[in-house]
Amino acid sequence: MSKNWLMTRRRALWFGLASLTGIVTQAGCRAMRPSYPIQALEDPARDFTVLGEAYLRERAAAKGLIYGAASGYDKLASDTKFTARFIQECGILVPEGELKWTALRPSPDKFDFTLGDWLSEFAHTNGMLFRGHTLVWNQSLPEWFKDTVNSKNAEQVLTTHIKTVAGHYAGKIHSWDVVNESVSPEHGRPDGLTVSPWLNFLGVDYIALAFRTARQADPQALLCLNEAVGGGKEDNFRRKAILTLLQRLLSQGTPIQALGIESHLGGRLSNADLTTFRGFLHDVASLDLKILITELDVIDKDLPLDINVRDRMVAGVYEDYLSVVLEEPAVIAILTWGLSDHYTWHSTYNPREDKAPVRPLPLDAQLKRKLAWNAMARAFDNASRHRTHIPNPQLSHGTIRETSP
Ligand code: G3I
Repeated sequence: MSKNWLMTRRRALWFGLASLTGIVTQAGCRAMRPSYPIQALEDPARDFTVLGEAYLRERAAAKGLIYGAASGYDKLASDTKFTARFIQECGILVPEGELKWTALRPSPDKFDFTLGDWLSEFAHTNGMLFRGHTLVWNQSLPEWFKDTVNSKNAEQVLTTHIKTVAGHYAGKIHSWDVVNESVSPEHGRPDGLTVSPWLNFLGVDYIALAFRTARQADPQALLCLNEAVGGGKEDNFRRKAILTLLQRLLSQGTPIQALGIESHLGGRLSNADLTTFRGFLHDVASLDLKILITELDVIDKDLPLDINVRDRMVAGVYEDYLSVVLEEPAVIAILTWGLSDHYTWHSTYNPREDKAPVRPLPLDAQLKRKLAWNAMARAFDNASRHRTHIPNPQLSHGTIRETSP
């Protein structure tokens, strides 16, 4: 991986982190009093009790929601204990990297679906939905890209990729992140769009082109824009840029149906940021779009070393965030970016200074339920059941089981 990539990710991460930690008075965002109780994170008396033994996918399904996680082929193909737990807890699988350009495109004229197909088959065999991530991104592009793609052939390269990949998985995909991280205010453009090869070669309309091409190739998958955004004041412009982009795409008749919100959260949330975030979700839903939380995890890098304290703080963030998110009926799915602390990108990208293993996910490294798991279960259990799904063949596979905990 290049140093540039790392720098970009770190910067992006700090924006994501900061996005849920500041105090906010967002102009234009309706003032809403939260109806959910937010308790102090450090509160040692905070109750994370969960009733029953049901798995997260079942608790989510009982409220018309989908729960699942990201994983790579290497884990699911080799770690049988992890795989068994993944099947129990998850109703949807998203490949962490196997559907990115770096994995699918060994050379300009070749597609390699080997690992993606294995994961798609794995999901379907085990009664899980399968999610696509991602058709268009400014990162994870193969080495050959910079020497091969230019303003003359970019449109053809982009549409060929989308037609081939979305066409290959048509009928097997619940939802596609058609365009990933298209908004990056830190890149300095007045419209807040990410400066990427696609933008440079094709202009701002590359986004609409990608969605139109994906829709032609797969008429059934839910088509999503996937963005990293939170409720902090640092994200005021980011939220505005995303809403403006969504409005523009919809006014052009672009076939976009959902916003994915990554949700790599910092270790502390403020009520003010959550209130602003609630308003943002409402604004997105007002555009008649669905919302998916696509990459949820909690970065514990700066939290206390003591696991008891740290796990409580992480769990508090999970429950507070999800309680707000699940108030919005447009939210249809929650995915964590990994399931077990044994396999998390934060071990590499956000290690702790004290070198203690990071604990950002619902299961610990031994696959045991942590308080973060309880927090998720409680948020699902406490959510109201008033959701509707966009019809999708994958949703009628009987995989969304209506079981009560
Ligand atoms: O597969 C190679 C392996 O062959 C090689 O030995 C190894 C050496 O570094 O690298 C491996 O590839 C790495 C790959 O993850 C698989 O582990 C890449 O270098 C590394 O860049 C890649 O990082 C992924 C990153 O996206 C870039 O694609 C992370 O695992 C993945 O968690 C992260 O996910 C992103 C989402 O796609 C978008 N949102 C943010 C999220 C976190 O950054």
